[in-house]
Amino acid sequence: MKRILSILLAAVMLLSVALMATGCTPTPAGSGGGSGKLIGVAMPTKSLQRWNQDGANMKNLLEKAGYTVDLQYAADSVEMQVSQIENMITKGAEILVIASIDGESLGGVLEQAAKENIKVIAYDRLIKGTPHVDYYATFDNYKVGVLQGQYIIDTLKLAEGEKGPFTMEVFGGSPDDNNAYYFNGGAMDTLRPYIDSGVLVIKSGQTDMEQIAIPGWKSEGAQARMDNLLTAYYADENVDIVLSPNDSLAQGIVASLKAAGYGSSSKPYPILTGQDCDITNVKQLIAGEQSMSVFKDTRTLAEKVVGMVEAIMKGTEPDINDTETYDNGVKVVPSYLCDPVFADVNNYKELLIDSGYYTEDQLK
Ligand code: BGC
Repeated sequence: MKRILSILLAAVMLLSVALMATGCTPTPAGSGGGSGKLIGVAMPTKSLQRWNQDGANMKNLLEKAGYTVDLQYAADSVEMQVSQIENMITKGAEILVIASIDGESLGGVLEQAAKENIKVIAYDRLIKGTPHVDYYATFDNYKVGVLQGQYIIDTLKLAEGEKGPFTMEVFGGSPDDNNAYYFNGGAMDTLRPYIDSGVLVIKSGQTDMEQIAIPGWKSEGAQARMDNLLTAYYADENVDIVLSPNDSLAQGIVASLKAAGYGSSSKPYPILTGQDCDITNVKQLIAGEQSMSVFKDTRTLAEKVVGMVEAIMKGTEPDINDTETYDNGVKVVPSYLCDPVFADVNNYKELLIDSGYYTEDQLK
């Protein structure tokens, strides 16, 4: 009898070990209800500060909610990003969160995702030319441009009737990034009345995206174009305004201006816009080399996207506030647009330090 009992006991123990190994016993998974389900997060590059923050925030919040996260960076290579997404699909991701490199290049791999019933959230940048993108979360990209244009108008008191004329040059973002067109549209629509009336003079005449876009949002590309503009059009006159859509471009533009002798009383730095509040650029704001940067709090965007993930997992409808703007060529993608604000030397402490985004030491 004793022997039978101990054999039975051993069998029960074996069975429970086997059950645990196959995952039939619930495993504790963080504090949230994610139960360890896999979420793939594909980010474009580590080379820009903001994407590192975006990725880290997403991973942190998703893990807190109990998910397992596969976070990948693709060094701005479309092929690498496609193969990272393929891998996420193979590993059994339930949802893909993708900040694309080239918005037009993911149709094939997202077709595979759709076959596996994987939901797709476009992060910050719209994914185009495919029906297989379920939601889009971003900042109001058109408003980013409006804030930049309005900053120029306010600083020069153009609405109060200041006539200039002021010289200006315009830069565009990466031509493969849908956002680049929205930033440009918002800024140029805001500034157009003053360009048309001759208060703002674009000496190069270059305003088409084909002429002004900087592939890959590269600082070096912006620096080279600014060098060329200064040589060709500003040998005898200063440039008063440079409209830069983001901070990586603004870094290159500042490098070019410095090399050309800007930053003295006879050659003051032009009004220069930007976006992202990268640490290097906030330092440029403090040093008077850049005038403003649009602040897009990556914590807010990550929170919003994690909220979308939770809703999809629960089978409820994610929070959406725009169902009209972002047509990806196949459908209008239901979107949530967060609100951007501008930072300059007067308000950066409140916006960036008091809110805990940066420490004072990081900006020294
Ligand atoms: C983002 C910007 C960023 C740029 C370069 C855009 O899609 O919205 O915040 O500066 O890409 O990475």
